[in-house]
Amino acid sequence: MHPIFNQNNRKLISLIALILQTTSIVLVLRYSRTRKAEPYISSTAIVASEFLKGLICIILVWFETDCSLNRLIKKLHDEIYGKPHETLKLTIPSGLYAIQNNLLFIALSYLNAATYQVTYQLKILTTALCCVFMLGKKIEKHQWISLCMLAIGVAFVTWPSSDEGNKRLSTQTPKSWLQQFIGLGAVLMATLTSGFAGVYFEKILKTGPTSVWVRNIQLAIFGTIFGLVIVYIFDYKAVMEKGFFQGYSTVVWIVIFLQAIGGLIIAAVIKYADNIIKGFATSLSIILSSAVSYFILNDFIPSLFFFIGAMLVITATFLYGWERKVKLIPLNDQKR
Ligand code: C5P
Repeated sequence: MHPIFNQNNRKLISLIALILQTTSIVLVLRYSRTRKAEPYISSTAIVASEFLKGLICIILVWFETDCSLNRLIKKLHDEIYGKPHETLKLTIPSGLYAIQNNLLFIALSYLNAATYQVTYQLKILTTALCCVFMLGKKIEKHQWISLCMLAIGVAFVTWPSSDEGNKRLSTQTPKSWLQQFIGLGAVLMATLTSGFAGVYFEKILKTGPTSVWVRNIQLAIFGTIFGLVIVYIFDYKAVMEKGFFQGYSTVVWIVIFLQAIGGLIIAAVIKYADNIIKGFATSLSIILSSAVSYFILNDFIPSLFFFIGAMLVITATFLYGWERKVKLIPLNDQKR
């Protein structure tokens, strides 16, 4: 393997890729919202991106097996069909991610955007707690402070401006306390599934020799199956009426492709870095995409909240990586 792909570089490359991917998906989504288009069914888009993710991973495994079709088939057979117990482990994260995607959908329709964004940032803390309890990771006091700072910072950064808020309020019907209660419950559940599924997947990736791409194929198989079940339950009628791919414009395909690539990058980040560092990378990319929106697209005006939030996120990032200098006492001095 080329020396540029050593362990440290893989970590850096995967993190930079995650920041670029998250930034571009935010920008494409923002762009797609400004265009009038026939609506597409979001549950089918989730299935399409899972399927695409599986296909891309098969190509990557083909490269791993020196581009030999026979060896590729043998590897997939041995790793996926031949080890059913290992393959079935992936039903847990893929099932949880499928539930999570739907919980977030419920939360978004029952809560206003600000409550949703702010509450969902608790996933940074649930992820850290899962790392401590499931992986035995040690998190220093200053790192806990940094994680809280990060969660508050992202909440501030994503807080809708008063203009956006007013627009949303005028188009939204007021929510009853029961709807808000259900929405809040859904988003809180999603923070738990996000932390647990991410850390469970990290544990699978970091223990055992199976390649990260084979693991992703296993995840994509169950992701596609669970996704199809969800399409059947919620959108069967709409699919029967106008087809599975209704409303799929070029922009929708780009989002699906970016989402699939995102799944792969997330897996690489979890493997070569960890879930907590992933949280920092995605938070920084929110700021980066806002900067692109302000300087290049000219469709975003940062509020005071945004600046405070951005400062908190950047400070938290440095604080997390800060290592307390332990004063080393020379051995001779210690004996005295
Ligand atoms: O919000 P959170 O960081 O938990 O979201 C993770 C997202 O990444 C989920 O939507 C999940 O479907 C996706 N993912 C993926 N492939 C992986 C790991 C996560 O598509 N290997």
